[in-house]
Amino acid sequence: MKVTTTASTSGAVPANAVPASSSRASRIAPHSHIKGLGLSAEGFAQASAAGFVGQEVAREACGVVVDLIKTRKFSGRALLLAGAPGTGKTALALAIAHELGAKVPFCPMVGSEVYSAEVKKTEVLAEAFRRAIGLRIKETKEVYEGEVTELTPAEAENPLSGYGKTISHVVIGLKTVKGTKQLRLDPSIYEAIMKEKITVGDVVYIEHGSGAVKRVGRSDAYASSYDLESETYVPLPKGDVHKRKELVQDVTLGDLDAANARPQGGQDIMSVMGSLVRAGRTEVTEKLRREVNKVVAGYVAQGVAEVVPGVVFIDEVHMLDVECFTFLNSLLESPMAPTVVLATNRGRARVRGTEDVVAPHGVPVDLLDRCLIVKTVPYSRDEVGQVLKLRATVEGLQLGEGVLERLSAEGEKGSLRYALQLLAPASILASLQGRAEILEEDISEMNELFLDARTSAARIPLDGGFDGGL
Ligand SMILES: Nc1ncnc2c1ncn2[C@@H]1O[C@H](COP(=O)(O)OP(=O)(O)OP(=O)(O)O)[C@@H](O)[C@H]1O
Ligand SMILES: [Mg+2]
Repeated sequence: MKVTTTASTSGAVPANAVPASSSRASRIAPHSHIKGLGLSAEGFAQASAAGFVGQEVAREACGVVVDLIKTRKFSGRALLLAGAPGTGKTALALAIAHELGAKVPFCPMVGSEVYSAEVKKTEVLAEAFRRAIGLRIKETKEVYEGEVTELTPAEAENPLSGYGKTISHVVIGLKTVKGTKQLRLDPSIYEAIMKEKITVGDVVYIEHGSGAVKRVGRSDAYASSYDLESETYVPLPKGDVHKRKELVQDVTLGDLDAANARPQGGQDIMSVMGSLVRAGRTEVTEKLRREVNKVVAGYVAQGVAEVVPGVVFIDEVHMLDVECFTFLNSLLESPMAPTVVLATNRGRARVRGTEDVVAPHGVPVDLLDRCLIVKTVPYSRDEVGQVLKLRATVEGLQLGEGVLERLSAEGEKGSLRYALQLLAPASILASLQGRAEILEEDISEMNELFLDARTSAARIPLDGGFDGGL
């Protein structure tokens, strides 16, 4: 028994890989306390939930948008989040991403990203839009599925060098309700097994043909009695070990474009879609996109694939210029458009790229006209306090008596962000003094060392520089 692995190195997205563009790493530390919009089942904002405090109207509005996106009624439209700095616009957008779940593509970018020396501005926008259109592909494939009962790599002398050994093949035992089977697999599959961190007792499936390995979960025979665990337990698969199974993969049009720009061989849908254009192309062109669209449309018509419109989030949208804005208008009107969420902290501002066109939020009126606008409002002292408390928990800091009140007051006077930013340095000061707890005196000292934006601005006269002003 041997599973062939001829196509396991196809240039298309491997079947078991999470497409890079739709996976969302939570690397944005300042927002790591935000877990969602914190709405009730009826869509009302709870005063403090899912890491979100206050800002009820904006949260409820975003909740409506999330519902519309989920029911696919908002694609090709735009939402604009407008408000003063530090009022939670970026946080709201990330909460929308959380609410949509991992299956709906969410493609965040910052307005200034379009200014690249190598890529055209419009190209950057077009690519972001492609990355925000998901495609769910259903395929029936021949697979081996079961609970791993045995996993033995067989070693052999390395013929190329005298040292070390290589793996000649790997023996894997799979068990289902109906029976067991032992497979002798190619060493390249062993690498995939190692990558998925598969051990005895896991339920896995291995695709016949591509040799892709996917871990489904841990067999529930191994379920432990812990209440809190990150592991997902799955029942022992039914049927034979070797069977036909319907597999679902999520990719984005951006992934398909990229895969086609670097085509390689293979037979399954992903590889065929990944080899429309053979020449060693490295750039995604409009022609290539049209070809991808055509094939995708074909699969959609056959019922093999389903389009999942996602979200493009453009933070600091006032950084775009007129050319980008007109292009954005046309993108919004294209038949395969995702939902667009924009954010800005500007009031009336000059539109970039024009001499004297002043528009609300620095966004031309024709784009504004296509937007639903949601306003974020400044926080009260009490709300600042609650956010601070959340952050202190996330950062693992202990606050002494009166610290929260003091910081809340600072936050009200300066900004929420200033108060949040004082937390970390204050904790360093405390630990220098050998304390685990932050005390009020640390905050006072911080205030001597650092200025909030408003105080700092007030110290420097409008016409003076640093030399003359202070
Ligand atoms: N309502 C809230 N509940 C909890 N945390 C919040 C809330 N609003 C803002 N924050 C936190 O405050 C900080 C500043 O907010 P955020 O970065 O979202 O502001 P912004 O509106 O995007 O500002 P800017 O216009 O400067 O980009 C972040 O760490 C964010 O997670
Ligand atoms: Mg922001």
